Amino acid sequence: MDATIIDGKAFAATVRAKVAEHVTALKSAHGITPGLAVVLVGEDPASQVYVRSKGKMTVEVGMNSIEHKLDVDTSEADLLALIADLNADPSIHGILVQLPLPKHLNEDLVINSIDPAKDVDGFHISNVGLLGTGQKSMVPCTPLGCLMMLRDHHGSLSGLNAVVVGRSNIVGKPMAQLLLGDSCTVTIAHSRTKDIQEVTRGADIVVAAVGRPEMVTGEWIKPGATVIDVGINRIDAPEKGEGKTRLVGDSHFESCSAVAGAITPVPGGVGPMTIACLLANTVTACCRANGLPEPEGLTA
Ligand code: GUN
Repeated sequence: MDATIIDGKAFAATVRAKVAEHVTALKSAHGITPGLAVVLVGEDPASQVYVRSKGKMTVEVGMNSIEHKLDVDTSEADLLALIADLNADPSIHGILVQLPLPKHLNEDLVINSIDPAKDVDGFHISNVGLLGTGQKSMVPCTPLGCLMMLRDHHGSLSGLNAVVVGRSNIVGKPMAQLLLGDSCTVTIAHSRTKDIQEVTRGADIVVAAVGRPEMVTGEWIKPGATVIDVGINRIDAPEKGEGKTRLVGDSHFESCSAVAGAITPVPGGVGPMTIACLLANTVTACCRANGLPEPEGLTA
């Protein structure tokens, strides 16, 4: 069996187009332009690439992009003061503090200082609690992107067995909450799970979010199941020449796609959906802040 490839790049483009439509309507009907502030502390190269890409796409959908680039030894007090200013600024609807932060800064303290209504990453403890209790919240972008692709592919997810491999606060746990919200029977598997292949082989949906290159192989997958691969790992690719590398996911694409019914590729699967969902969350936050109806199809 050859799996259907779920094209995250194309899907993300449709999400961004929907966001752009809402932004145009907000501007013309209400004179409001959603604003997203991104805070980067230090000069981590991967974070710089993410932040540049976020800024570019924010502008492309018609929103205001505000970037604060702070020195690597910025004090916690200065960072908290900046966040307090952004919390109080009515032209800012979304605030994202790029992670990881330098070691001297307390990530939990910093994230929890963001106004939960502007927490477009969905990492604030209030949003985690709201999601866990099935209340309206800001939902973490990567799991939201996975959910959108799963709903699009399956229609209803009700009653399906879903196994999330990985238990991170950013992906694994919120993914499990979202799948539960859509009435899946959910298992979270992790490094201590016994007979993990036995567990995943019972799943209609496997979400691989462990950060281990190509860990999930075809033998782990029930024939016809859907594989959502959240991993982005750079590995050596001697076959491409000396010193060359390539990107792979947490699933072994070749063996999984021979068994699965559908699969997201890496690159071009979940990755592009993350920024698209960040933009979607910013529009949602802007609508909520102004007491306007939320855009349909862009939230959980
Ligand atoms: N670093 C890598 N991905 C992310 C993300 O989605 N949000 C934040 N805040 N930092 C990140």
